[in-house]
Amino acid sequence: MLVLLLVLSTLSFSNCQQCQSRDYGNGGTVCVCNATYCDTIARPQRVPPSQFLTYTSNLAGLRFSQTSGTFAPRPNSSNRIYLNSSRVYQTIIGWGGAFTDATGINIESLPANMREMLLESYYSPNGLEYSLGRVPIGGTDFSVRPYSYDDGGPDPDLINFALAPEDLLYKIPNIQRAINLTNGNIKLFASAWTAPRWMKTNGDYSGYGFIRRFFYQTWANYYVRFLDEYRRRGVNFWGITTGNEPADALNPFDQLEVVGWPSWLIGDWILNNLGPTIRGSPNYSNLTIMILDDQRVFLPWYIVRALNNNRTRQYIDGIAVHWYLDLYSSPDLLDQTQRLFPEKFILGTEASVMPASYETPVLLGSWTRGEEYSSDIITDMQHWVTGWVDWNMALNPDGGPNYIRNFVDSTIIVNATSAEFYKQPTYYHFGHFSKFVPRGSVRIDCNLVLSDNSTDVDSVAFRRPDNGTAVVILNRNPTAVSLNILDNSRGTAPIAITAKSITTVLYW
Ligand SMILES: *[C@@H]1O[C@H](CO)[C@@H](O)[C@H](O)[C@H]1NC(C)=O
Ligand SMILES: *[C@@H]1O[C@H](CO)[C@@H](O)[C@H](O)[C@H]1NC(C)=O
Ligand SMILES: *[C@@H]1O[C@H](CO)[C@@H](O)[C@H](O)[C@H]1NC(C)=O
Ligand SMILES: *[C@@H]1O[C@H](CO)[C@@H](O)[C@H](O)[C@H]1NC(C)=O
Ligand SMILES: *[C@@H]1O[C@H](CO)[C@@H](O)[C@H](O)[C@H]1NC(C)=O
Ligand SMILES: *[C@@H]1O[C@H](CO)[C@@H](O)[C@H](O)[C@H]1NC(C)=O
Ligand SMILES: *[C@@H]1O[C@H](CO)[C@@H](O)[C@H](O)[C@H]1NC(C)=O
Ligand SMILES: *[C@@H]1O[C@H](CO)[C@@H](O)[C@H](O)[C@H]1NC(C)=O
Ligand SMILES: *[C@@H]1O[C@H](CO)[C@@H](O)[C@H](O)[C@H]1NC(C)=O
Ligand SMILES: *[C@@H]1O[C@H](CO)[C@@H](O)[C@H](O)[C@H]1NC(C)=O
Repeated sequence: MLVLLLVLSTLSFSNCQQCQSRDYGNGGTVCVCNATYCDTIARPQRVPPSQFLTYTSNLAGLRFSQTSGTFAPRPNSSNRIYLNSSRVYQTIIGWGGAFTDATGINIESLPANMREMLLESYYSPNGLEYSLGRVPIGGTDFSVRPYSYDDGGPDPDLINFALAPEDLLYKIPNIQRAINLTNGNIKLFASAWTAPRWMKTNGDYSGYGFIRRFFYQTWANYYVRFLDEYRRRGVNFWGITTGNEPADALNPFDQLEVVGWPSWLIGDWILNNLGPTIRGSPNYSNLTIMILDDQRVFLPWYIVRALNNNRTRQYIDGIAVHWYLDLYSSPDLLDQTQRLFPEKFILGTEASVMPASYETPVLLGSWTRGEEYSSDIITDMQHWVTGWVDWNMALNPDGGPNYIRNFVDSTIIVNATSAEFYKQPTYYHFGHFSKFVPRGSVRIDCNLVLSDNSTDVDSVAFRRPDNGTAVVILNRNPTAVSLNILDNSRGTAPIAITAKSITTVLYW
């Protein structure tokens, strides 16, 4: 009786604050947070082995709605998910977002208590429990101006290197809050967009430009100077990438800041400059180095030349992929990459919904955009990806600021005028993974069989470090689906999947 009461009391506390929903007429709803109210999601509490928890978000408006069920001895549906926890795949590194200038500018536009509330929505135990953070080295298009940390004349010794006001105002304070909210359990990694113009062959931040050979070592030193400046301010990094989207330089009309790297030169730079500089430095010798930081479509050919050199390969720990061309490239490319370089992890390092030509950049409440996130994450997880990092964590209702007007959507949209922020369906779709699949979880075999020919259902399963099992199920059908999860060690979990929903099932 006492046990039952305890279980009931934990269940009743677990949905702390409900979503305050608002419909903007875009096919779904947002949850509104203001100075006195914001929805939260408590850390799940372990239930007895006979039971399982389900968390559901759907088009109809549920958000992390929790119910519990009991394992049955026999299946009662021929729609089935067969789990086999003896067959294991990749280990999860984590989930997160990017501390862009635009993120910081939008956070600063809110009253002080709401700044905290917004970061808690991502990094606290009552939020999505993000465990990764990406930090641009200098500016990106999601800044209000182009810049590097050494914008004067040629300066091979980086004597004039200095952080920008944006680092001190918009990035470091928020990163420090996130470190605090996660109790230090956050892995930060840094990516550079552009180098100072004097280091580049075209003398510009964007366009068809590469690092001049003469400055290869200076460019490696620039990374260390950045790491030093952040370290002095209490921000220590877990990793770096070799640079954001090097292929953008191939499009001379592209206005994105970029350092171009042909596949046959990036290995030279890693082998002769970046690798020895990082591994030889007293403070950063164990820093994680990731190559690519660009679209999946470039795998594996772009990295093969670098990684086929054994000496270069030893400097590279992982492969960073972005999601933008995923519709035009098979996830088999990830499998091929994993087979070629099984000791290198693959991590998703950027995603955001780009508007179609007929859409506005921000579609408040769009459930379809949420589905785009979760279906991409499930596919990535099914193909060896070890985590997923979103792009801006907060944008304004236009999808900015962005000084080249490359506006996109974001998981949280800030309305500075009304002192509100809106949690988009993408926020919840992503949360169905980040909240329930902590770092150290391992993907397990998950085989979905739909007997009634329902399509557009997808699933992926994990064994958590606390030995819990988490199964994420995305239903893009406009109809409900009843299905069973079959786990040999436990029995059958009958699950009622609602129309247009995402569900996480959790048991220990
Ligand atoms: C915030 O939203 C809650 C719930 O709708 C409402 O009761 C409260 O008055 C709002 N607070 C402000 C400051 O607008
Ligand atoms: C299967 O069993 C569960 C739990 O008893 C029940 O809620 C569900 O409706 C059943 N499904 C079917 C298809 O009979
Ligand atoms: C589960 O996976 C293990 C390891 O691959 C395999 O030996 C076993 O046959 C699988 N069990 C089932 C029921 O498929
Ligand atoms: C977070 O901040 C609190 C209050 O300032 C402090 O006591 C705690 O040590 C900080 N935690 C970390 C991990 O920095
Ligand atoms: C790097 O390490 C050295 C020696 O361990 C130390 O003296 C120095 O202050 C460190 N640099 C930074 C920026 O922390
Ligand atoms: C890297 O080295 C630092 C300093 O020696 C240490 O605190 C940290 O735990 C190390 N990180 C890893 C991943 O080994
Ligand atoms: C590179 O390393 C692999 C694995 O250690 C080894 O099999 C291969 O012979 C090495 N290649 C060269 C060119 O040394
Ligand atoms: C932002 O707030 C202002 C002032 O309340 C309001 O006029 C505007 O419609 C809001 N924008 C959105 C997207 O809700
Ligand atoms: C599913 O599709 C197969 C092949 O098209 C068909 O034979 C079967 O009757 C369908 N099942 C249901 C329940 O519609
Ligand atoms: C998980 O299970 C393994 C083996 O069954 C056991 O050794 C380990 O202590 C368990 N870990 C937790 C956190 O319960």
